[in-house]
Amino acid sequence: MQTKQLKKLYLEFFKEKQHKIINSSSLIPEHDPTVLFTTAGMHPLVPFLMGQPHPQGNRLVDVQKCIRTGDIDAVGDPSHLTFFEMLGNWSLGDYFKKEAIDWSYEFLTKILKFNPDDLSVTVFKGDKDAPKDTESAEKWKSLGIPEERIYYLPKEDNWWGPAGKTGPCGPCTEMFIDTKIKPCSKDCRPGCGCGKYFEVWNDVFMEYNKVAEGQFEKLKQKNVDTGMGLERTAAMLQGKKTVYDIEIFTPIIEKIKELSQIQNPNQEQELSIRIITDHVRASTFILGDNLGITPSNLDQGYILRRFIRRSIRHGKSLGIEKEFLSELAKIVIKLHKEDYKELDRNKDFIITELKKEDEKFRKTLEKGLHKFERMSQNKKISGTEAFLLFQSYGFPLEMTEELAKETNIKVDKEGFEKEFKKHQELSRVGAEKRFKGGLGDHSEETTKLHTATHLLNQALRVVLKKPDIFQRGSNITPERLRFDFNFDRKLEKDELKKVEDWVNGIIKEELEVKREELTVEEAKKRGAQGVFEHKYGDKVFVYTIGGKSIEICGGPHIKNTKELGHFRIKKEQSSAAGVRRIKAVLE
Ligand code: ALA
Repeated sequence: MQTKQLKKLYLEFFKEKQHKIINSSSLIPEHDPTVLFTTAGMHPLVPFLMGQPHPQGNRLVDVQKCIRTGDIDAVGDPSHLTFFEMLGNWSLGDYFKKEAIDWSYEFLTKILKFNPDDLSVTVFKGDKDAPKDTESAEKWKSLGIPEERIYYLPKEDNWWGPAGKTGPCGPCTEMFIDTKIKPCSKDCRPGCGCGKYFEVWNDVFMEYNKVAEGQFEKLKQKNVDTGMGLERTAAMLQGKKTVYDIEIFTPIIEKIKELSQIQNPNQEQELSIRIITDHVRASTFILGDNLGITPSNLDQGYILRRFIRRSIRHGKSLGIEKEFLSELAKIVIKLHKEDYKELDRNKDFIITELKKEDEKFRKTLEKGLHKFERMSQNKKISGTEAFLLFQSYGFPLEMTEELAKETNIKVDKEGFEKEFKKHQELSRVGAEKRFKGGLGDHSEETTKLHTATHLLNQALRVVLKKPDIFQRGSNITPERLRFDFNFDRKLEKDELKKVEDWVNGIIKEELEVKREELTVEEAKKRGAQGVFEHKYGDKVFVYTIGGKSIEICGGPHIKNTKELGHFRIKKEQSSAAGVRRIKAVLE
């Protein structure tokens, strides 16, 4: 069964069970400065798991595009990818364990027709924070899964979330398909990672809120958050031993083989092919995500740069000496544009940026590799050397580490960080920290800045007399807002002043911020700004600010503009071709 069919069956199955189909959110979480990418279907749903009503109701289903940079080193093994699609169904305070497990079992065995004898499950073993999950285990037994295929595991394995430091989380039950290869040892079991048991689905019972390290409170409502890996499940359905063997990867892999003229790759070459395949998909989706992210040394831009440069380096080791990623990206776009229209819309941008980054890096790659070879004669790479490779040859630290690993030598990472700090380029470290950090902060400050962002968006259209200005990106921390929008020149000083004045005028008018639930068509008719990639008849939240601004948005917002204080623009700069960026604060 192909991935397209699998997606369709999943959405239809849960639609029949009264779930509303929602769209994939952006890969880059908005209003959430603490994570770089959406890593699971639940990320965009955090406010709703915490209790805010969702405009589409309390049963949802979707296919979410995700990126997990934490898995970057595992890319190439049978089951890991950085970019993947996650099928998910949610109960927001509605059904719980019984229905979730029943439906998981029904979908796996009746719809996908997996043999129940090949199914193993894990459940939470219990600890001081939460009891052993006997309810899930009993449910599995009642469905015919024998005790010996039910594994009780601790938090490390059977507790999911929070995605960051705090937030919704809970015990989970994971489902594995036996691939029938030989067990790796006598202790081989689901979750051991050898490839015998392929994890296909995770049902998380989110009834806890982690408030601090080791502290859990009960959430207002009991939720279900599930995640089925599209590529992994498709691999099992297609009788393949690795995700890289499924149909959506074949055209990319074939193209790499053609370009490198390697038809029968050895193990090392196979790994390079898989890394390129994974990274080119991730890069295409990041560049295609409407937000104008480009390769840089900062945040998402740095991860994107790593993906691209690592691919170029692996391409070179396969003998590909010319720009090739744009060719592969075209294949990725073709394969996915039906489901992700943004890829087609941003095709030129994707291709141009890939070519630009290739041109920049290819100039120094050859020399950098020679330099690395000379350095490695000392059997180690010092911090200063790693920094030189970074600064003069554009080698991300991780690339130097990878090269070193291949030749069995060590890199002084700490020394590199010291050098790095000295040069006051803390952005990468910042990016990593943020990636590991907590999920969305919905503090009063960020809520205020979120409302201010709506006002800024409107102010730009009014002041610049351009009604087609729209949001290309937004990022809010408790200290400031950052707003990207389409505009092709620098703003004049007096224009910025006028924008500030317009926003402050609205604040002074003490206007009410109102939330309504409308269908997409009604929202459109009323002239709401926002993403209209919803399906016909979908209900959405629309926020209006005293008739001055109207936007489709999930919230949250403050109640009255008088709460905002004084709005000030700190900076206006270019963010990408045709995209400007404004940073502003409330004082
Ligand atoms: N959020 C859960 C996961 O990613 C379903 O596994």
